[in-house]
Amino acid sequence: MLKPTTSTFLVGLLTGIVAASAGFAMIGRPGSSNGAAGARVLRVAHALPTSHPVHLGIEYMARRAGELSGGRLRLEVFPSEQLGTETQCLEQAQAGTLAITKVSAGAIGNFVQSYRVFSLPYLFRDSDHLWRVLDGPIGRSLLDMLAVGNDGRPSGLRGLAFYDSGSRNFYASFPVRTPADLRGRKVRVMSDAVAMDAIRAMGGAATPIPWGELYTSLQQGVVDAAENNPPTLLSSRHYEVTRHFSLTHHMRIPDVLAASARIWDALSPEEQVWLQQAADESVAVQRQLWEEGTGQALAELRALGVEIHEVDPEPFRAAVAPVVAKYRQGVIDDLVRQIEAVE
Ligand code: MLT
Repeated sequence: MLKPTTSTFLVGLLTGIVAASAGFAMIGRPGSSNGAAGARVLRVAHALPTSHPVHLGIEYMARRAGELSGGRLRLEVFPSEQLGTETQCLEQAQAGTLAITKVSAGAIGNFVQSYRVFSLPYLFRDSDHLWRVLDGPIGRSLLDMLAVGNDGRPSGLRGLAFYDSGSRNFYASFPVRTPADLRGRKVRVMSDAVAMDAIRAMGGAATPIPWGELYTSLQQGVVDAAENNPPTLLSSRHYEVTRHFSLTHHMRIPDVLAASARIWDALSPEEQVWLQQAADESVAVQRQLWEEGTGQALAELRALGVEIHEVDPEPFRAAVAPVVAKYRQGVIDDLVRQIEAVE
């Protein structure tokens, strides 16, 4: 598995700085050294390995962008945090040095407050409910909201599409059957205020750690537990250092394809249509891959000796009720009401 290193991150950062100082972000122009003559090159970065359904969805988007544009758009995909963590990729997109990134909606809450709604535990009843919301007007308006930052000014981002990221569940060297099992345990969380509060309310000591550092952190006991979905537990190989996977389904936080507004605005209308269409088409493919990948991942994890525990969610739901109440204010409360009203 390709692990992020300081040097890969520095290479990405330096490339971005050089491109930005060249005056036109990191999109190649016709005849740029990065692409075939006439191709505009857009860099896409994310945190996951190449075997992951998210990466395969992005690869599909890249292929379709090439096909739709007749080779005039070329997407170069950088997986495994090669260009930095999710937060760093969002910052690069804002700065116009990275064209597109795939991040968890949980990483966006620090930039665009309304995205905190996704981290509210047990917000969605199930996967069908999540997708009825994301495929409808609420999903469309949430993608639009990505354009406006917490200070009410343009965020520098543009929402392209949502990807499936299933539900989050605890993994550790012990089973997590009730919140009492988390008491006094250090639990890795994303850099996400709501998730941190939720883990604390469940009894754990919330410990934010970048995704790429988590394997070593679990191995060395920097944290005792983490949480994620089955394909990500499998592809990250975190199961090698945590043999219990407890299906709490405590959050359904989708992934988001976010473009740099600066780079998007520099595309021609035709290029924007190709790119958006490629992103939209990749959603159906990624969702299909996700469904298959989740079943396969659970079967593989079992075969690898991971103990998978079905868990009663009710004690977890009760523990996080004060966190949900705390964040149900203003725009987030409006969104929760709209989401709950979706049948
Ligand atoms: C995380 O836990 O940091 C994210 O789920 C990783 C990812 O999906 O890219």
